Amino acid sequence: MKPRHFLSLFDLTPTELQHVLQRAAELKALYRSGKRYAPFPGKLLGMIFEKASTRTRVSFEAGMVQLGGDAIFLSSRDTQLDRGEPIEDTARVLSSMVDLVMIRTFAHTTVERFAAYSSVPVINGLTDYNHPCQLLADMQTFIEHRGAIRGRTVAWIGDGNNMCNSYISAACQFDFQLRIAVPVGYEPNENLLKQAAGRVVLLRDPLIAARNADLVTTDVWSSMGKESEQERRLQDFSTYQVNAEIMAQARPEAIFLHCLPAHRGEEVSAEVIDGPQSQVWDQAENRLHAQKALMEFLLSDKQDSA
Ligand code: CP
Ligand code: NVA
Repeated sequence: MKPRHFLSLFDLTPTELQHVLQRAAELKALYRSGKRYAPFPGKLLGMIFEKASTRTRVSFEAGMVQLGGDAIFLSSRDTQLDRGEPIEDTARVLSSMVDLVMIRTFAHTTVERFAAYSSVPVINGLTDYNHPCQLLADMQTFIEHRGAIRGRTVAWIGDGNNMCNSYISAACQFDFQLRIAVPVGYEPNENLLKQAAGRVVLLRDPLIAARNADLVTTDVWSSMGKESEQERRLQDFSTYQVNAEIMAQARPEAIFLHCLPAHRGEEVSAEVIDGPQSQVWDQAENRLHAQKALMEFLLSDKQDSA
């Protein structure tokens, strides 16, 4: 039987995504109550990191250990990948030894190629194209604070990057309206925009994008791999900071989210990220619970293939 993978939000049906989020909330309550829930003794998660990480690494490793299993951290620098071993060969070998694999890398085709040759489920821990695990935590956080996301309005302000692409996929899978404000030349993936037509509007003015939004979100102006463009990006994004003026356009009960790490004074003012509408700490914590629910889903055989 071919394993299920989680390379994008489209790899699970909307029903399956709802199930994962519901389990994430249950697993959070269980964890907070201090009860041990360790259904996967002996299960191993292999984690390949070709980029830096704080949250993704710790949440996956801690999550797998809490579920009773173990995790192996593999930096690409220390494996044969960095010396040119094909990703397909690595996939065949690794997946014969572990039960799940998580990969954070640059090209999205790398995770697709790995998944094509893997005999176990593969989870995308961020590529240049998307970051679907983060969206599970973001959706969990919104629902926890404000109830169902269906039919709500979300404003994305800043770079049309991997997180922006993931919000477009989320607009389709979780059925909300997304307003994206990006400078010219920083648009998100064109195919995704076409796929999400009717749910997503592309704008230039962040004030218009934020108007009456239930959720306002942003991300760094220079993602990992774009460091050499930092100076130019600082100029191009200078009018795209999420600050009190932008938040004043949103609904009074709107929340602010940021996947972190954040640069205060660049994409978000300190006043907003450290202010009362910000839920970024719950959002970061929810990476743990959402990914435990995801791993449980991928490791269990009771998958709804509807
Ligand atoms: N949000 C997120 O993925 O954080 P890390 O880069 O620290 O993993
Ligand atoms: N867009 C950011 C997200 C980091 C979690 C990056 O790719 O660096």
